[in-house]
Amino acid sequence: MTGSRILALGHYQPSQVVTNDDIAKIVDTNDEWIRDRVGIVSRRIAVDETVVDMATAAAGKALANCGLTAADIDLVVVATCTAIDRSPNVACQVAARLGIVAPGAYDINTACSGFGYALGTVDHAIRAGAARNALVIGAEKLSDMIDWTDRSTCIIFADAAGAAVVTATAEGEPAGIGPVVWGSVPDKGDAVRIQGWRPYLKQEGQTVFRWATTALAPLALQACERAGVAPSELAAFVPHQANARIIDGIAKRLGLTDAIVAKDIVESGNTSAASVPLALSKIVERREVPSGAPVLLFGFGGGLTYAGQVIRCP
Ligand code: UT7
Repeated sequence: MTGSRILALGHYQPSQVVTNDDIAKIVDTNDEWIRDRVGIVSRRIAVDETVVDMATAAAGKALANCGLTAADIDLVVVATCTAIDRSPNVACQVAARLGIVAPGAYDINTACSGFGYALGTVDHAIRAGAARNALVIGAEKLSDMIDWTDRSTCIIFADAAGAAVVTATAEGEPAGIGPVVWGSVPDKGDAVRIQGWRPYLKQEGQTVFRWATTALAPLALQACERAGVAPSELAAFVPHQANARIIDGIAKRLGLTDAIVAKDIVESGNTSAASVPLALSKIVERREVPSGAPVLLFGFGGGLTYAGQVIRCP
């Protein structure tokens, strides 16, 4: 039994920037409302890219950032709730594009908490000896699932992918991925849903907001406790980017003072399972957190589901 750690990250966002003013041209909304109530200034919306395209691009960058090649990877896991294809799954398609031969390959759908679930299962697989080097990807094209006449959702969601290369730690090296705290609230499942055909994302915004600002801080604290890290020791907090007010509320309840709190929602919107690896990848790229420093990841959303863990920054 050995632990695992994140070796490197990569991310991809479509080039098309859509501002609040752009959205105000198609639905009855305005820049001030969106900034005040959600915290978004602009987001990226895919034109031609698919979930597979974005996942592959992010994973390719993560590989390049650590110097591993396709031949080193034996597991590919993709968290997504917006894949159009039922089979082959996104993980197999990414593996084929990157030339990864014979990896374990599966998709996970727990909506916005997906990256935490994927990272947890990959850490478990490595500890169990079922894998050595894995790609863990969160990729979403939410613009496909949005009713662009519904102002309560079309202002929020966007497209992106983030990826991590996860590797087994050496003998005696401390684990770089702490125990996952995951769970769900199935009887509130309707609060965020992408159901039926043709599927559109619907959410009971206030129900999710209340849950997120009351139930999640104690669960995030549990993730810190299980990793043996006090919140005051965290170098950064990277929660799901659903709403700047939710992020601030959880950070306050965790008593964070010096930690960097990811607010990528400002320029990226809510990208569901991509939001945590996307924000983390940018923090690492900007060298805002020293290598080895503890970072709390925490995802939450559709299901309702949540998952989080403390990782050591690559
Ligand atoms: O990632 C998945 C997990 N999801 C979440 O975490 C979402 C959590 N919830 C939220 O972030 C917030 O509830 C929203 C951002 C979705 C909505 O913000 P809110 O402060 O809860 O607004 P509301 O739905 O209570 O609406 C308040 C008012 C309403 O008008 P009245 O009835 O007070 O006259 C809405 O019709 O704001 C109106 N409104 C808008 N006005 C301008 C709703 N959407 C808009 C809009 N532009 N886009």
